[in-house]
Amino acid sequence: MRRRLVVVTGTGTSIGKTHFAEALILGWRRTARVVGLKPIESGVVAGADSDGERLRAVSSFHVKRFGYALTAPMSPHLAARQENIEIRMDAIARRVEEIRQEAGGVVVELPGGLFTPITDSACNVDLARILTPDSVLLVAPDRLGVLHDVIATVRAASAASVSIAGIVLMAPEQGDPSTGHNADELSRTTDVSVLAVLPRGSPAQLSQLPAMTQLIEALAKQAD
Ligand SMILES: Nc1ncnc2c1ncn2[C@@H]1O[C@H](COP(=O)(O)OP(=O)(O)OP(=O)(O)O)[C@@H](O)[C@H]1O
Ligand SMILES: [Mg+2]
Repeated sequence: MRRRLVVVTGTGTSIGKTHFAEALILGWRRTARVVGLKPIESGVVAGADSDGERLRAVSSFHVKRFGYALTAPMSPHLAARQENIEIRMDAIARRVEEIRQEAGGVVVELPGGLFTPITDSACNVDLARILTPDSVLLVAPDRLGVLHDVIATVRAASAASVSIAGIVLMAPEQGDPSTGHNADELSRTTDVSVLAVLPRGSPAQLSQLPAMTQLIEALAKQAD
């Protein structure tokens, strides 16, 4: 049976995608065997926890490592070029599809933002489309500039035939006058719902919040 696949993407880098994905997996795994994957990652160095390892550590279903763990701390397409590696989206999609048959739920984090290039001719959004997920979640920081970044990303995703199921706002380390108000403004200015506004806290703490439980229920409904 083909199980639920949630793609976690965002408006940019270092905005809390992995942090959110960890919380999502911790919450979801109460009712399913869930695996978190980061099939393309750059800036992977020995001794430091990669996103792939962070997601693996909270998963309740485990698979053999696969994908592209690139060393250079740059855009995946550049890191791959530097390492003479060809990123094959079809290979990733095939493996994710196999895992989807086995696990109870799959969470895939894409690297950088939704329009970050992963090859010379494709961006994350193209991979998101061929993965045929049940839901694509857009993580964004609850700070000044987010309205532009979310509106632009949602519209561009739609033009690329990828529909965003929901937005997750993450509290930034330092708030600004817009923090706490962006969810309301996004509900006026986009058609996509803000599914959760998450405070600072560990993934385990965030996974316990009613907002996260509701989000997981909303994802289950969207998949039905
Ligand atoms: N709500 C939060 N509470 C506490 N810390 C957070 C929160 N959101 C993010 N962080 C921390 O901020 C840092 C950046 O977040 P994270 O690694 O999840 O970003 P990312 O979008 O996955 O980055 P990348 O583009 O490198 O994959 C991490 O140290 C993370 O633990
Ligand atoms: Mg990450």
